[in-house]
Amino acid sequence: MVTVSSIKADIGGMVGHSSSHPDILDLGREEMERAKQRGLLIDAHVSHCGDDMFLIMTHDRGEDNTDVHRLAWDTFVKGTELAKKLKLYGAGQDLLADAFSGNIKGMGPGSAEMEIDERPSEPIIVFMGDKTSAGAFNLPLYKMFADAFNTPGLVIGEPLHGGFAFEIQDVKEHTQITLNAPDEIYDMLVFIGSPQRYAIKRVFNRLSGEIAAVSSTDKLSLIAGRYVGKDDPTMVVRCQGNFPAVGEVLEPFTTAWTVEGWMRGSHHGPLMPVALGDAHPSRFDGPPRLVALGFQLANGKLIGPNDMFDDPGFDNVRAEANNIADYLRKHGPFEPHRLPLEEMEYTTMPAVAAKLSHRWTATEATREHAMAAPAGEVE
Ligand code: 13P
Ligand code: 13P
Ligand code: MG
Ligand code: MG
Repeated sequence: MVTVSSIKADIGGMVGHSSSHPDILDLGREEMERAKQRGLLIDAHVSHCGDDMFLIMTHDRGEDNTDVHRLAWDTFVKGTELAKKLKLYGAGQDLLADAFSGNIKGMGPGSAEMEIDERPSEPIIVFMGDKTSAGAFNLPLYKMFADAFNTPGLVIGEPLHGGFAFEIQDVKEHTQITLNAPDEIYDMLVFIGSPQRYAIKRVFNRLSGEIAAVSSTDKLSLIAGRYVGKDDPTMVVRCQGNFPAVGEVLEPFTTAWTVEGWMRGSHHGPLMPVALGDAHPSRFDGPPRLVALGFQLANGKLIGPNDMFDDPGFDNVRAEANNIADYLRKHGPFEPHRLPLEEMEYTTMPAVAAKLSHRWTATEATREHAMAAPAGEVE
């Protein structure tokens, strides 16, 4: 068995929140190399999307392994020290705990891990997002694994025809449920259609029981209780054979879906799939961005990556994203460009509401109602 762990954090941006500094990524690579030499990791690849650093690691320790999580945490802490020296923006932004406590979950970084029995050929795609949030993969995952208009393999591919099971987390209540596609898709859509609350964590092939996909569902604001940046997510998807083909896994991203994130993590914007060379969101700190790195696993070695969205086939969706960005930007501080008020509770909203609370008076209709009411009924 081999475990693929994609663990990521924003430990400092260059310039502002727009990208990563090469020295930070080099530091990550050195730490990964040392961990390979001491036998903790089989292989590793360090990359970034915008200001988030992604540690893509393979090992034989299984999911939630303390040593692997500690390695990721220590790498982010060391990277933060360097980010502070370079005075990068928001150095250590996603490190919300003072000290490592055995598992990186709930400490700020996002993680997506899967332990698999490596197939004779094991193509995987690791997705890296910036200026978006956990739950952004709900719609694409639904299309990949439950929509025959996206994935013809669901109809004409025998190993996919039995459908896929979706493990869905309620990120507020910390509960989970598994629902089956295609039979339970209408029930499932009730929940996954609200990605700020319900996020798809894992997908399984129902016939073989094998894990097909895993995504990070860590919600920074729910961990910190205040706005600390968006939980820019990661996801690992297996391709071919019992899973959708590479092209079926990428096809959902030919539409620039509306996601949460963008400027100050407080806006809706179009998700733009880009090549690594374009993974530096600058326009209004965006638009939200996604990179897809393709690997072939070979006895745990990460052969690759190929930069999957570096393809003119995605030029139209990038143009679409820019058009949507122009349109949404015109709304300025109005919803639905700005997030709904409930999602703004970690911004100035509570302070402004408190400051003005004594200036709110009853409306005329309420006063008339109060006057008309018989004595004793007015509260
Ligand atoms: P090959 O016949 O080249 O393996 O392609 C099959 C397939 O899955 C294409 O998406
Ligand atoms: P990040 O979550 O990527 O750090 O972005 C925060 C932000 O405020 C962008 O405007
Ligand atoms: Mg940042
Ligand atoms: Mg980020």
